[in-house]
Amino acid sequence: MNGNDGTRVQVTLRVHRFTPRPERDRPRSGSPFAKQGSPFGSGTARRRPRGKQWTQDYLLSVLPDTTILDCLLDIKRTQDPSLAFRYSCGHGMCGSDAVAINGTPTLLCTAKVKDWAVAQTARNATDAEGFRKTTGTDDDPADNAADVSGTSGVSSAHDGSPLVIELSALPGFPVQRDLIADIDPMLEQIKRLKPYLQADGKLATTKDGKIDVFEYLQRPEQLAAYETLSNCIACGVCEGSCPVFAGGEAFIGPAALITASRFINDSRDTAADARMDAIDAADGIAACQSVRACSRHCPRGIDVGEEIWQLIAKVKER
Ligand code: SF4
Ligand code: FES
Repeated sequence: MNGNDGTRVQVTLRVHRFTPRPERDRPRSGSPFAKQGSPFGSGTARRRPRGKQWTQDYLLSVLPDTTILDCLLDIKRTQDPSLAFRYSCGHGMCGSDAVAINGTPTLLCTAKVKDWAVAQTARNATDAEGFRKTTGTDDDPADNAADVSGTSGVSSAHDGSPLVIELSALPGFPVQRDLIADIDPMLEQIKRLKPYLQADGKLATTKDGKIDVFEYLQRPEQLAAYETLSNCIACGVCEGSCPVFAGGEAFIGPAALITASRFINDSRDTAADARMDAIDAADGIAACQSVRACSRHCPRGIDVGEEIWQLIAKVKER
């Protein structure tokens, strides 16, 4: 698909929608066999909301370079104001718009139609053994996109099949409405690991008693030890990719571990031991199965699996 020649393509956005049923007023009685809250959990297991689920198609005529966020904004303005999705910055900085596109967790605002539109027939294709191909879930979205390069004035793939992009809420989290996932479990876990610099509380002073403004000066190699990790935007893409994480009860999750690693690697932080104690738990680093799916789609380029691997080694070597 050529994004520079001004040719529009017709694409169907297939959205997995969800409208929650209103909460009942009466409190639910707890089971005596219910799982107790983990040190990282909220103490009360989150119930997945119940409600109406359906799939809705929206047909659009767009330039191939259009982002999927812009497609959704267009749908909201011109076709269906009830469609719910979340976004803020619009350029990959805030992490608020993570969803699953063709089954792959990623950000709406950086995903382009040309990279994700898949020919309808490809999604339904079967292999020689008769198994349906899971088109659209490979690591490289470009491998999944329909081959419509050189398209001129046509609205579909070369074989004439319509182009489809499938959208659903970020996996691993309860769905609040349509494409909005409840990421509070992840944010709670990050908060519990104290995502801020903890120094010894004493301000360094110079010989003449003034505050030493260079007290936190770091050498380039000290900065390099955590700089990449400080780029994490808590989008939850790594959590949505992790087969072990599912709402945060059994595993603190890769995003929280990246936060812990960011401060453990910071030479100015004096709480490294306490931080390592906090994650050296059954639902901390011990729950990580080193699948490394978390590394595949991080929008900030963090090799999440490798960082967690190094963190585990650091905790074990103490
Ligand atoms: S590590 Fe990457 S994928 Fe995970 S929350 Fe941070 S920015 Fe998102
Ligand atoms: S809207 Fe902020 S990262 Fe996409």
